[in-house]
Parts: sequence; structure tokens; C-alpha cells
Amino acid sequence: MGIEQQSGAGERLVSASGLAGTTMRAAVQHCYGPPSALQSSEVAIPAPGRGDVLVQVGAASVHLGDYFVMTGEPYVVRLVFGLRRPRNGIPGRDLAGVVAAVGKDVTALRPGDEVFGWSTAGTLAEYACVPADNLVPVPADVSVGDAATMPTSAMTALQALRKIANVQPGQTVLVTGASGGVGSFAVQIAKAFGAEVTGVCSTRNVDLVRSLGADHVVDYTKTDFTRAEKRYDVILDNVEAQPLAAVRRALTPTGTLIPNSGRGGRWLGPIGRIVTARVLSGFTRQQLKPFTSVGKRQDLLTLADLLTTGQVTPVIDRTYPLDEAADALRYIAAGHTRGKVVITV
Ligand SMILES: NC(=O)c1ccc[n+]([C@@H]2O[C@H](COP(=O)([O-])OP(=O)(O)OC[C@H]3O[C@@H](n4cnc5c(N)ncnc54)[C@H](OP(=O)(O)O)[C@@H]3O)[C@@H](O)[C@H]2O)c1
Repeated sequence: MGIEQQSGAGERLVSASGLAGTTMRAAVQHCYGPPSALQSSEVAIPAPGRGDVLVQVGAASVHLGDYFVMTGEPYVVRLVFGLRRPRNGIPGRDLAGVVAAVGKDVTALRPGDEVFGWSTAGTLAEYACVPADNLVPVPADVSVGDAATMPTSAMTALQALRKIANVQPGQTVLVTGASGGVGSFAVQIAKAFGAEVTGVCSTRNVDLVRSLGADHVVDYTKTDFTRAEKRYDVILDNVEAQPLAAVRRALTPTGTLIPNSGRGGRWLGPIGRIVTARVLSGFTRQQLKPFTSVGKRQDLLTLADLLTTGQVTPVIDRTYPLDEAADALRYIAAGHTRGKVVITV
């Protein structure tokens, strides 16, 4: 039976089951810092605004960007997330779970619906406030754990391959970091687009990357793809282990290279490399296109379709309980993730 609540924002909320209380468990940070700065705390359940949905989080996933925001490094992230301390004390962006309550203006979702999506208000918690437009239904027969892996990493892979590189059937696509969060989705999505896909990974991940559908696998511990004969129409370089000039050698004369590593210096992160690629792009027929992925509901619906048809199956490396979120972020930062890391709530 539905109950009505009055939110702090004065909005009428409708909840299917009622909330267990007014507080929730969350991973909380009061200042920028290493994972040890994260504390498991009891905080107030957030109150959704008119267009928001309160989601009872079933699973959240973490990625390198969450680590950057938690540590406040590269420092440039502080311009967006808070100069002295994180504006929002709960990390995490991706989630899947059940609608617990909806704001007054939300008509497309009802309490009890299973949804997945992204929120900038923090998802490493029992509840998260999410704009309704950032959520889509979890497809039938897909677990919340699998759905939670998708929003940032799979959307980045999709946008890189579809919007930025416009991958066409028959094109040759090379993905570095093919065993990572973005790469494991990129291999599968490029295959779904009909491309001939080469994945670059280490020896221990060769079988994994092949199982994702890669036509060819390059073990980077044995072979340097930039020194081989083969040229690619599209390179999605999630690692940027080699200099831009070397990677361009592996690109066709009019091919598209997407340098996509977020790692870099302490102050500006990858910005120097991004500027270099953009400037160089003006002097060559090759397309050098670093980009920043943007959350788009339509893309999430495309990803939901790819999940439903089985063209994309998330790889889950490790699962951590909410109280061990700090360990999950530590693991992500080490850079050896195989697929995605999920926090179960
Ligand atoms: N443009 C955007 O908006 C956007 C959005 C999201 C993420 N990103 C960026 O995308 C990049 C990839 O993210 P991710 O989540 O997939 O995690 P990641 O931590 O960068 O990638 C981990 C994977 O890369 C493999 N790897 C390490 N060195 C390699 C090398 N030299 N060649 C090939 N593979 C190598 C690792 O396996 P081994 O250790 O076994 O080799 C591991 O499986 C990140 O730098 C992130 O910042 C960009």
C-alpha cells in the first residue's frame, strides 16, 4: 500500500513500502583524500525534488573517475566538485535499484520499479536521489548488479564508438585496455556494430578478451601493436601507454584515434595530452578526438537493448559490500581491473 511522506523540500512523495527510517548507511567523505578518508556513516535519507526519484540502491559500480573525485586529484576536478572539500560527501555515480519514492512531477516511474542510471548526488549509500531523466528500467532477466555496471563505462564506450568514431560494419577497430571497464564494453559494442575488433590486453586477460568477441587479441607484454604492420580505422586508446605519435602509426591515413585515458599529472590530469591531440588534429587527415562522455538517457536505453539482446554482457571482476567501498576504490586505482567493480548495498 502506498504511503505519503512530506520531503524536506516540501514535495509530495509516494512510496510503495515506506522507508525504514529517516537515516541510511552511506560511504561518506568530509574532505578530499585517499580511500581511508571514506567512513561508513549514518546520514539523513535525501529528499528528492519535484523531478527526482529516490532509489533504494541495490548495487552501485565504481570507476576511475570516482577515485579522482574522492581524492580531489588531479586538482582540476575541484573546480567542478568543490574547491576545499567535495560539495557532495557521498561518492559514486552509477547505480541500479528500486524506486522508493518519486517527486511530484515524476509520472514515468512508480515506487517498486527496478531502474538503473546515474546521479551526481552520490550512490554509495542505501538510498540515492536521481533525476528521473537519468534512469531507465532494468531489462527483464538482467540483475541489478549487471545493470549497475553500465551507466558510465558502457556509455563511454558507446559514445566513443558511435558518436565520436561513427564505427561502420567491416571497419577495423583496436581497443587498448580491452580487459578494463570501458574496454570490455567497447570490444562487445564494436562487435555489435559489425566491426572487426582487436583487443589489447595482458597475457592473463587474453582468454577473457577473446570471450568478449574480439576477432584478434594482442598481448601487450609480448607484442607492441604500434610496431606491427596492421593499420586500424579506429583506435580507442583507454590506456595511452604509448606516445600519440606511435599510436598514430597504427592508424589508417584517415582513421580516428580516441585517446581516452583519464590518468595524468597531479594538477591537470590528461588535459595536456588532450590539448596536444586537438591541436595536432588540425594538421593531419587523421582524426584525433579525445572526448568527455556525457550522461544521455537515450544512450542508456540503447545499452539496455544491447543487454536484452545479449550483445553486451558485463564482466564483473569483484563485488564489495557497502562498508568496504574504500577497498573497491583502492582496487580501481591500481589499474588492473578486469571488467567492472560492483558495490552491493
Ligand atoms: N572520456 C571519458 O569521458 C571517460 C569516461 C570514463 C572513463 N574514461 C577513462 O577510460 C580509461 C579506462 O577506464 P577503465 O575503467 O576501463 O579502467 P582502467 O583502470 O584504465 O583499465 C584497466 C585495464 O587496462 C589494462 N591495461 C593496463 N595496462 C595496459 C596496457 N599497456 N595495454 C593494454 N591494457 C592495459 C589492465 O589489465 P592488466 O593490468 O592486466 O594489463 C586492466 O584490465 C580510464 O583512464 C578512464 O579515466 C574516460
